[in-house]
Amino acid sequence: MSTEEGQTEGERLAELAKRRGFFFGSSGAYGGVAGFYTFGPQGAALKSNVEAAWRDRFTVREGNYEIEAPTIMPEPVFEASGHLDGFDDMLVECPDCTKAHRADHLIEDTTDIEDAESLPIDEVEALIVEYDLVCPRCQSALGGEPVESFNLMFDTNIGPGSTSSGYLRPETAQGIFVEFPQIKQYARNTLPFGVTQIGRAYRNEISPRKRIVRTREFTQAELEQFIDPERDTPALDDVADVAVTLYPAQQQQNENGGYIEITVGEAVESGLIGNRWIGYFIGIAQQWYEAIGVDTNRFRFRQHLSGERAHYAAECWDAESEVDEDWIEIAGFAYRGEYDLSKHAEYGDDDFSIFQEYEESKTVERAVVDPDMSVLGPKFGAQAGDIKTALETLVERDPDAFSGDTVEIELDGDTVAVDTDDTNFHIETQTVNGEHITPHVIEPSFGIDRTVYTLLAHGYQEDTIGDENRTYLSLSPNVAPTDVGVFPLVSNVEQLVERAKDVVSDLREAGLTVISDDSGSIGRRYRRQDEVGTPFCVTVDRDGIEDEGVDTVTVRQRDTGQQIRAPITLVAELIQSVQSGEVIFENLSNTYDGVEWANKTE
Ligand code: GAP
Repeated sequence: MSTEEGQTEGERLAELAKRRGFFFGSSGAYGGVAGFYTFGPQGAALKSNVEAAWRDRFTVREGNYEIEAPTIMPEPVFEASGHLDGFDDMLVECPDCTKAHRADHLIEDTTDIEDAESLPIDEVEALIVEYDLVCPRCQSALGGEPVESFNLMFDTNIGPGSTSSGYLRPETAQGIFVEFPQIKQYARNTLPFGVTQIGRAYRNEISPRKRIVRTREFTQAELEQFIDPERDTPALDDVADVAVTLYPAQQQQNENGGYIEITVGEAVESGLIGNRWIGYFIGIAQQWYEAIGVDTNRFRFRQHLSGERAHYAAECWDAESEVDEDWIEIAGFAYRGEYDLSKHAEYGDDDFSIFQEYEESKTVERAVVDPDMSVLGPKFGAQAGDIKTALETLVERDPDAFSGDTVEIELDGDTVAVDTDDTNFHIETQTVNGEHITPHVIEPSFGIDRTVYTLLAHGYQEDTIGDENRTYLSLSPNVAPTDVGVFPLVSNVEQLVERAKDVVSDLREAGLTVISDDSGSIGRRYRRQDEVGTPFCVTVDRDGIEDEGVDTVTVRQRDTGQQIRAPITLVAELIQSVQSGEVIFENLSNTYDGVEWANKTE
């Protein structure tokens, strides 16, 4: 297949994705709606394989807990998380055609400024004027137009009427944080432990772009690792030797700065990566991306610049892939400290702490109260019990409040003054076995759609076999939508068709995903499978049908077009051993006959 001259990588990919059923704009029959995509049969299979590979690596092999929380959550969750007030992008609207644009993206696309997102609104407005920015759709001047904060969350009403507001979650993470009080019990209240979730997230992006790279509904795979920062360390040795390409903040700010090729162990020891847990997850992520087929020459970890970091993040790195002559963020690695759990503890009504036992018990001096109820009862009547509880809470939080003659407490919105003498405030020596701590969080957060896009972009290849041009997707056998295509060489010979059906059943029985195809020339059938990245094709031909003994078939590898002839009974095993990396396909020709013809048609 020849490709159109002058097409960008993205355009070629979009054309292939639509033609071969990877993804396409959704609701096309109704004119479509920007930012929503449907994954067709090939894309859905590829995406589900990527999710399975992620689950295997980040949930199963790490011994973490996976949950599935609702995608709609009530408003108070997002008040606590900060999304209601701060999950905004900068919007500027064209005065003529009314098209809304992301102001920071317009600046980044048109100037050398790379980090416009972190600039204050007035500076962004000034830059629009300074660079004479225009509406990309109608070319009208945007200078002087107001730039506004636009909250990206989709809102909804929960139940009839409008008394209970809810939002479609903008990240899967909040479902994990909110359920921490339940999940910690499954973890037997013992740190460290990790909780994962794979699911849909929703953001009302001002300008969705680059096909499935920036959409309004997408899939995230997130891991929240809960730790005691004083005690817990990751198994850094497991990934110390993993080589990574880092693009630290300092290098980005330095005119001559470049990438640093280094191992994870060296990067952590030298302080380039500040947090050991971040280093650990970067190492695992590097191995995982390699295993699923990301081109490591088009992949890097970029550190956030200080203005770019989310308010909760002490350290943050992004995994970025190069697609369509641009770098896109495909995952983020953030050290979120105790921000999330302490916020939900403040706003929510549950215990977001963990009791950490000391290795040895300690003797401590502690401020306590023992209110005299025979005095408080007559003074405060029915309120006396609540006042006692409030005094006990206050003394833990703020013992200094008891330093005057009276101590003030808040009760049902009123301030109540209690004589300090009546509280029996004193310092006690106590033996304590542990303390309640708010766990800290390290979060690796992966975008599945962007990973799929990266695999398609990095796998997209064109070459010539014989005298025929072809396009193929060099997808890793770990994630390719289909494991193997099975064909009778010709479709009008009953014996070959029946034998091919047997092969399909046998391979499916062995757990492989199989597509059978008997339409068109064998060359065209190979091309169809090449274009959807099927790593192997098995062809049943007359030469392999034996009167006596075991029949043979040809097995063809996608990338090289190389073929071997192998006994029908061994095909599943051979394919599975190549898939697992145990055997290299090229080496099979030492054991099995090679097949000279590439596109034999009989
Ligand atoms: N909980 C942290 C969090 O959500 P994020 O960087 O906003 O962090 C994580 O998102 C990942 O989700 C990104 O690295 C990206 O891969 C993906 N993502 C974010 N917005 C997206 C969008 N509009 N369309 C597709 N993927 C998106």
